Amino acid sequence: YPVENVRNFSIIAHIDHGKSTLADRLLELTGAISKTECNKQVLDKLQVERERGITVKAQTASLFYRHEGQTYLLNLIDTPGHVDFSYEVSRSISACQGVLLVVDANQGIQAQTIANFFLAFEAQLTIIPVINKIDLKNADPERVEKQIEKVFDIPKEECIKISAKMGTNVDKVLQEVVRRIPPPNVNVEDPFKALVFDSTFDHYRGVIANIALFGGQVHKGDRIVSAHLGKTYDVNEIGILRPEEHPTESLYAGQVGYIIAGMKEVKEAQIGDTLFLQKHPVEPMPGFRSAKPMVFAGMYPVDQSEYSSLKSAVEKLTLNDSSVTVNRDSSPALGAGWRLGFLGLLHLDVFNQRLEQEYDASVIVTAPTVPYKALLSSTKSIKEYGSEDITIVNPSHFPDRSQVLNYFEPVVIGTIITPDDYIGKIITLCLNRRAVQKKLVYIDDHRVMMKYLFPLNEIVVDFYDQLKSLSSGYASFDYEDAGYQPADLIKMDILLNGKPVEELATIAHKQKAYTVGKTMCERLKNSIPRQLFEIAIQAAIGNKVIARETIKAYRKNVLAKCYGGDITRKMKLLKKQAEGKKKMRKIVLHMKMMV
Ligand code: GTP
Repeated sequence: YPVENVRNFSIIAHIDHGKSTLADRLLELTGAISKTECNKQVLDKLQVERERGITVKAQTASLFYRHEGQTYLLNLIDTPGHVDFSYEVSRSISACQGVLLVVDANQGIQAQTIANFFLAFEAQLTIIPVINKIDLKNADPERVEKQIEKVFDIPKEECIKISAKMGTNVDKVLQEVVRRIPPPNVNVEDPFKALVFDSTFDHYRGVIANIALFGGQVHKGDRIVSAHLGKTYDVNEIGILRPEEHPTESLYAGQVGYIIAGMKEVKEAQIGDTLFLQKHPVEPMPGFRSAKPMVFAGMYPVDQSEYSSLKSAVEKLTLNDSSVTVNRDSSPALGAGWRLGFLGLLHLDVFNQRLEQEYDASVIVTAPTVPYKALLSSTKSIKEYGSEDITIVNPSHFPDRSQVLNYFEPVVIGTIITPDDYIGKIITLCLNRRAVQKKLVYIDDHRVMMKYLFPLNEIVVDFYDQLKSLSSGYASFDYEDAGYQPADLIKMDILLNGKPVEELATIAHKQKAYTVGKTMCERLKNSIPRQLFEIAIQAAIGNKVIARETIKAYRKNVLAKCYGGDITRKMKLLKKQAEGKKKMRKIVLHMKMMV
C-alpha cells in the first residue's frame, strides 16, 4: 500500500464509554469480522478482560477500507483503558498519527478522558472527538460538545455523534479517519526502524511483538537488533493483524504488524523499544523507559507443597507481562514466596486473578505497599544496604530513623471530575488523605475538575471505592506519577501476645501512625477467631505501643493455672508451637481478605 493510503490511529476513552464496542463496529464495517461475531468484542481477548469489561493488553487490527474509489489501510491500535496502564497507552499512541477520543453522551468528560486527551495532545496527534451512546434516553450530546470545546479547545463542529451500539454514524467515523488523520511521515527507502508497542508470549512460538514501522522494510529471514538490550535475532515470521495473525513475506514503512524472532521473554521486546537491521543501525526512538512498578506485595502459596507449581505459574505469567517485577522472598509464617511489583492495584488484582483462573493456583497476597525511599546517613548502614539512596518495597527492610537522613514517599497528581454537589465531601476525603489541592475548575455548569497532589500510599487501598461511594458513583479518578516528596515515615510493628509478626508490619506516615495502628488492631480483633487463650494485639513504633486490642479467651483460661513443671502444659505448648505457623497463616489470610 502506498504510504499516502495508510492511517494509523487509536481509540481512547474513559472506561465503559464504548471503545471496544466502537472497535467491533469498525471491524465489522470493513469486513475484518463478520456481523455474527458481533458484540463478542474480539479485541478484548483475555478472559479477565471480558469478565471485568476492561481492556488490559492492547490488541491491534489492520482494516481495509474502500472510500471514493481508493482502498485505504487503516491500522487500529487498541490501547488499554485503565490508569495503571497509562504508560502502555502512551506507547501505543506514539505508533499513531491520530486518535478517536470517545466520550459517553450521558456521562460526559471523565478523569481518564482528560488523561488520555493530554497523552494524545502532547504527542501532537490529530484528535477526533466522538460522542458515543447518543441512543441513550439521558444522552445530552450538546452538553458534551460544550465540555469538549471548553476543556480541550476543540470546536464543537468537529465532534462526531454516534451510537456504537446501534451502528449510527459509524461509517462517518471511518470517513473522518481518512480525511482528517495524516498518513505516517515515513520512507520505505530509509533503514528499517520499528517501534515495539505491545508484546505477548506464546508457549510454542515465543514472543510475538507488535510493531509499527517508522522507516524501511523488513523481510522474513532478516537479522535484527533490539536497541534496549542490544540482542540480535533472526526474523522467523512477520505479518499483519486482522485481528488474528496473517503472515506476510515483508512489512513496509507505515505498516503495523507483528514479528516473531526467537525472543524467549517479553522482557526482550519491551514496550517502547526500537528494532533495526543489524547491518543498518539507527538511533533508537526517544522516550523508552521500563514500566515502573508502583505497588508491591508479597505472594505466597497457601500450601508450601504448591511452591513449585506456583513458581512455574508466576514465571509463565511474567513471561507475558514484563511490567511485573519478581523477587524471591520468604517469611517465617508463610514460608517461601515472592515480592512482586505491579503498575497499580488493578494490575495486582488482574495478575492474581489470572493466577487463579489460568493456573488454578491459590495464593496469599500480603497488604500492598508503595516503594518508599531513604537517604542513609551512616557509613555503616550505607555499607549494609549497599547504597546511600535506597528503595524500600518491604516493610521488614525499613531502615531505622537513626541511620537515615531523610525518608521519601512517592506522590501522584490525581484528577477528579465530579458533579458539584459532591465537592465538599470529596475535599474532606482528599484532606484526610494528606492531599494538597492544585486546581479546581468548572468544566460546565455543574461539573468540576479538581487536581490534587496525593501521597501514593494514601490512594492505593480504598480511595477509589470511597470516592465512588460518597459521590454515588459519579466522580471519576485518574492519576499520574509525580515523583517523590520528603516524608516523616515510621515502621509500625504489630505484636501478637508480645511477639512482632513481620508479615503484618507496615510503613506509615507519622501523622497517620495513631490512626493506622488503631485501625489495624481493630481489624485484626474482628478477624482473628477467638482462641482458648487470650490474645493481645498491639501496634508499636519501636518500643512504644500506640494501640492495643484484646481478644478474650473462649472460656476460663485453664492453662493460666499451670506452673513451670506441669507436663500437660509443656505438651500443650509444644503443640501450640507446631500449630503456630498454621495459625499465623490463617491470620494473614484474614488480613488478606480485609485489604
Ligand atoms: P473498557 O474496555 O473497559 O475501556 O470499556 P470500553 O470503553 O471498551 O466500553 P465497551 O465498549 O465495553 O462498552 C461499555 C458498555 O457500554 C457496554 O455495556 C456497551 O454495550 C455499552 N455501549 C457501548 N456503546 C454504546 C452505545 O452506543 N449505546 C449504548 N446504549 N450503549 C453502548
